[in-house]
Amino acid sequence: MTSSPTAPGSRLASRLGFSDRVFIGPAARRVAREIEDGLELVEEGLAVDLRVADSVADAASRYLLEAGGKRVRPVLTLLTAQLGDGNTTAVIDIAKALEMTHLGSLYHDDVMDGADRRRGVPAAHAVWGNSVAILTGDILFSRASQLMSRYGDRAIRLQADTFERLVLGQLHETVGAQPGDDPIEFYIQVLADKTGSLIAAATQAGALFANAPEEYHEPLRVYGEKVGVAFQLIDDVIDLSAKPEDTGKVPGTDLRAGVPTMPYLLLKARADAEAQALAARIDDGVARIAEGADPSILDQPLAELRDHAVTQQTLELARTWTNDAIAVLAPLPKGTVREALTRFADTLADRSS
Ligand code: IPE
Ligand code: IPE
Ligand code: MG
Ligand code: MG
Repeated sequence: MTSSPTAPGSRLASRLGFSDRVFIGPAARRVAREIEDGLELVEEGLAVDLRVADSVADAASRYLLEAGGKRVRPVLTLLTAQLGDGNTTAVIDIAKALEMTHLGSLYHDDVMDGADRRRGVPAAHAVWGNSVAILTGDILFSRASQLMSRYGDRAIRLQADTFERLVLGQLHETVGAQPGDDPIEFYIQVLADKTGSLIAAATQAGALFANAPEEYHEPLRVYGEKVGVAFQLIDDVIDLSAKPEDTGKVPGTDLRAGVPTMPYLLLKARADAEAQALAARIDDGVARIAEGADPSILDQPLAELRDHAVTQQTLELARTWTNDAIAVLAPLPKGTVREALTRFADTLADRSS
């Protein structure tokens, strides 16, 4: 990331996709500056680490890194590291490894979701095809493991356990709820696995690898997981956004591809005829798109879903997850880090990208 004369914290806040509401007051701005410095090291390190193979592999693996991204996971690691020794080499490397893991998962996810755009640019598979996109994701996962392995068993286990849960989340989303599963409970578990696990690793890792007191580790892990569920619920609402210029993605990508999201599941669970009729139109559109119809046939039903009460209900559900996340921070000392984590959770529902 390049330096700019912008006020400390504002570049960081813009990275996170919302305004200066996470770091308020002089002490918080000092922490924000530390995180800025750490993030600069993470950015430089990522750029170097993705420039070590041949030109084809390097170009493909740097493609989405350079396209943008909010860097939520490294920022959370750097933030919780402030409860201990701060920006140590281990913390920077682990923040890099977790962002690489996230990045790799995006290459794979866009293949699975048939998503055409990511971070405001054509998805990697749209540029190079599925095989290159999948293999590039694999390179990123390997690099992340290499970095983690420098920090011993604990780091290797964190990486392996997190990655397993992320993949299981993606797998369970793909195969869907089985007979006897409650579709909404099943889906929440998918969100906790595919997204909560990595955000939990990020919040936990900062404390762990900056040697913060042991009693903070578990609350931070649980906080990250709950915030991750809320983050992904809001992503479901963003998927319906009418503003692709904010999201960098094609609106309704998941639903058009038949990937259920929370607004749709809440719609299906409603007994009223109007909701059932809209769900039937969406199901019919998904089936026709699968047979080759133009995806725009779902524009109108998806606009109706966006304006339906179930979308508001999804945001309210996200709010209950962020409130629970904030509540588990109770064992942390009152101070800048806890306040910033609280504000981060509080402002999450306002994100639009
Ligand atoms: C996108 O994550 C995938 C999800 C888990 C929702 P982000 O919203 O953090 O994506 P970037 O890194 O900012 O592009
Ligand atoms: C992405 O989930 C989760 C992972 C990559 C593990 P989604 O498919 O819902 O996220 P977007 O909307 O494509 O970013
Ligand atoms: Mg996707
Ligand atoms: Mg997906």
